[in-house]
Amino acid sequence: MKNIVILISGSGSNMAAIVRAAEREQWARRFGARVAAVISNRADAGGLALAKARRIATAVIPHQDFASREVFDAALADAIDVHAPALVVLAGFMRILTPGFVARYEGRLLNIHPSLLPAFPGLHTHRRAIEAGCKVAGLTVHQVTVELDHGAILAQAVVPILSDDTPASLAARVLTQEHRVYPQAIADWLSEAN
Ligand code: GAR
Repeated sequence: MKNIVILISGSGSNMAAIVRAAEREQWARRFGARVAAVISNRADAGGLALAKARRIATAVIPHQDFASREVFDAALADAIDVHAPALVVLAGFMRILTPGFVARYEGRLLNIHPSLLPAFPGLHTHRRAIEAGCKVAGLTVHQVTVELDHGAILAQAVVPILSDDTPASLAARVLTQEHRVYPQAIADWLSEAN
């Protein structure tokens, strides 16, 4: 079985969309794959309850308990490697990863970013897109490399920016598309890995 480990920091709605797609689309039968664990750097991440309700293994590695990014990433990797993952999926995981961590999972580490990369890497993407006068925004699923929010693009989707959009209304429109595109991009990755 190909184990997928999902890393979250917050509400985990992308994680939930991936878990639902895995069940609905029978990833176990089609790809020999399953979501094996959900790991958070925050104990209060809402997505942990969602994962537990689905009887998925969970773990919390609180980043503030560690003296450096390197030590945190080593503990995170230990928690991930318990599940011998074929794929590690960042789903709203709001930590910058060290080069050593990225190298360990090279080629099997995916991220979703709420902008049309290479535009607007980093934080506050929706506010920045509105302030720049963009007429469209979107999301990008990409391979993770050492450089933040770079790496080969696997999927993108575009949404309009409306004249009365706020960062919150735009974020909600983009998130709806994230829930559609991220599971599909993972299914495509699994299909190609077969
Ligand atoms: C999503 O919009 C995701 O694209 C973004 O955080 C949100 C998490 O929502 N990720 C980043 O900004 C990564 N730099 P979720 O916890 O409900 O999936």
